[in-house]
Parts: sequence; C-alpha cells; structure tokens
Amino acid sequence: MQKLIYLFTYWFLLTTFFVSCGTSNTQAVEEEDLNSLREAFAADFTIGTAISAPQIMGEDAKAAALIATEFNSLTPENVMKWMHIHPRPEEYDFELPDKLLELAQAQDKELIAHTLVWHSQLAPWVNEISDSTELAELLAKHINTIVGRYKGKVAGWDVVNEALNEDGTLRETIFLNLLGKDYLPTAFKLAAAVDPDTELYYNDYNLCQPEKRAGCVQLVKDIQAAGAKIDGVGIQAHWNLSGPPLEEIEASILAYHALGVKVMFTELDIGVLPNPWDLDGANVNQDFENSEFMNPYPQILPDAVQTQLADRYEGVFKLFLKHSDKISRVTFWGVHDGHSWLNNWPINGRTNYPLLFDENYQKKEAYHRVMALKESIEH
Ligand code: G3I
Repeated sequence: MQKLIYLFTYWFLLTTFFVSCGTSNTQAVEEEDLNSLREAFAADFTIGTAISAPQIMGEDAKAAALIATEFNSLTPENVMKWMHIHPRPEEYDFELPDKLLELAQAQDKELIAHTLVWHSQLAPWVNEISDSTELAELLAKHINTIVGRYKGKVAGWDVVNEALNEDGTLRETIFLNLLGKDYLPTAFKLAAAVDPDTELYYNDYNLCQPEKRAGCVQLVKDIQAAGAKIDGVGIQAHWNLSGPPLEEIEASILAYHALGVKVMFTELDIGVLPNPWDLDGANVNQDFENSEFMNPYPQILPDAVQTQLADRYEGVFKLFLKHSDKISRVTFWGVHDGHSWLNNWPINGRTNYPLLFDENYQKKEAYHRVMALKESIEH
C-alpha cells in the first residue's frame, strides 16, 4: 500500500512538473510575442524581413529565432530572382523558394515574392535574346510558371522592380528596348491572369525623390490606364541618417496613396557609413576596404551614432504611424546588422549598422525607441 502511495505521489509530482513547464513555456512565448515588433505594430502594418539563402536553409538558429518572434511577413532576399529561380531556359529551381514558403506557412506569416521582372540579376542567357517575339513569349512563360506554382500561397508579388531612372524616365533595359513600355502593364496583366487574388506591386528605390516620384506616379497611372491591376507601390527605403527628409517621405506616401494603391516600405535599412558618391571625384572602384575614413566603425558603433540612428528610426516610424491607414507593410532588408548587404555595398568589406538588431542578434537602441512609440501610444 505504501508503495502505491509513493507511486501515486511520484506520478502526481511528475505530472505537476510537466504541466507547469508547459504553462511557463507558453507564457514565455506569449510574453515574448507581446514584446515583438509584429505584435507592437499589429494594428498598423505588417512587419517584414528579407531572408537570405542560409537563413532559409536553417543555418542560423539565432536569426531563425528572431524571424519567428519579431516578423510576420517574409521576402526572399535573393532566391526568387530570375538568375536563381530560372537559371536556364528549361530549368527552374524551386528548392529554396519552396522551403521559404514552408517556413512562412508553418509560422503563419505572409510571403512576399521578389521579383518577377528586373534587369539586374537576370539569368545571363536572357540578355542574349534580341528578338522581341522571343522575349515576349519568354516573359509570359516565366510569369505563368512561377506565379502559377505559388498561386494562392503568396500574399503579393514585386512584379516589376527598378524600371525607373533617377529623373523619372523609364530605364533602358532589355525589356524596354525589345518590348517597349507596354512590358509594364503586360507583366501585371500576365501575373493577375494566373493568380487573380495575389497582390501586385511596383517596387523601386529613391521613390521619395521628387523627380523619380513623379515618374513613378506616371508609371502607375499608365499601368492603370492600360487596364491592368496594380495593388501597391513598394518604396525600397535604403536610406541614411540624414536623407531622404521626412517631408519627402510624407509627400511620397500621400502621392502614391492618391493613386488608390497601397503604400509599403519594402527594403528598409538606414546606413550610417560615408557614401563614396558624396565625395568629390570619388571613384567607387577604388580600394576603400581598409580605409579608416570610409569604414570608420569596424569594431563597434559609437554611442553618439547609435543614438543618431535611433533618432532617425524613431522619426521614420512616427511618420509611418501617422499614415498607418495608408501603409500596409514595413519590411526590413535583413534580420541583423551582421548579415546586411550594406556591409558589401557600395564598398566591399565594411561594417555597417543599418538594422534594429546588431551583429550579435541583440536589440539596439533604435529597436527600443521604435517599440517605445507604441508603448507611449497605448499606455
Ligand atoms: O552567394 C554568393 C557566394 O556563393 C559568393 O561566394 C559571393 C561572392 O561575391 O557572392 C554571393 O552572392 C551574392 C549574393 O548577394 C548573396 O549574398 C552576390 O555576389 C551579390 O551580388 C548579391 O547581392 C544582392 C543584391 O541584391 C544583388 O543585386 C544582395 O544580397 C541583396 O540584398 C540585394 O537586394 C536588392 C533587392 O533585390 C532590390 N533592391 C536593392 C537591394 C539592394 O541591392
């Protein structure tokens, strides 16, 4: 009998222990969620991040934890670009895009697909085409195949990327040269015909600069006038500490919203390093890699600059919140500083600090200042 009592007591303690472990784990996740970017801005816009190939392959557990907790929208940084997804005429590579989709679905996050039509990172064989009918057929096949594969599973597509010059005119690309400016509405019509329910975006950088903004407004109007569906303008937002001015960002939000489309910030990062193009006569091809002037913070970001970055992020997010009725998404271009493309552009091998998480995956002052905006609003 005593043995039975012991057994029962043992069973009871064990059960209580596991139940309480389960409860505290659940609580921990819930508390963590409440403190995340995606939770804080849930009523305002989705919060996205660009995911690299190693991150999709699960090679970075710490990044995986941040992705799971902080974001509710994922964009592939590279793996859905033409050269990767359609490397040869009859060959498609869906392995990593499929994995990314699985990840997004498993974590109940939206997937934003990037990108269908872009002159950069094209597969080299596409650039060899000189016949317009051949290119038109290829464009249709490319869009039908890829949009078709992910039909019903992708929240939105960057249909055309970076079609504009800085002065707002259309960029000379193989698409413009062989197909004329109709390639833009054509691409949108093709995508909408395959997946009528996915959202379709035009995405570009420097879209807050007045001349380019005017060009983008015209581009959207032309797409609409041709009877094609366009759901949003993606402002890439590769910015720095001083520019673009908040006034220009606000004017852009209003200008794109007035077209009846959603506005989204799709590739947000704020670089803190000197820009070689600001130097008189600077040549980006020069070897600046070991230059103290061009790479001033190789070990650590000084507190004063950390605070400048936090100020800038706070200003930008205050503006986003002011116009949250017009903004549907804010996506950071990367998860943490250690993996940002800005460490290698426009000069290879620098140490930049453009995101909200540092190279050790820790929350930066900018993160806390952005979160504090919601805390002060809600409390
Ligand atoms: O994966 C290879 C690696 O195997 C090789 O050893 C290494 C040597 O250079 O290159 C690696 O590939 C690099 C790739 O990023 C992955 O890191 C490419 O060289 C590099 O060109 C590529 O850069 C990407 C860039 O687009 C290409 O245009 C960046 O990661 C990506 O962040 C960037 O993203 C673009 C958006 O798509 C459009 N808007 C601008 C934005 C920033 O340029």
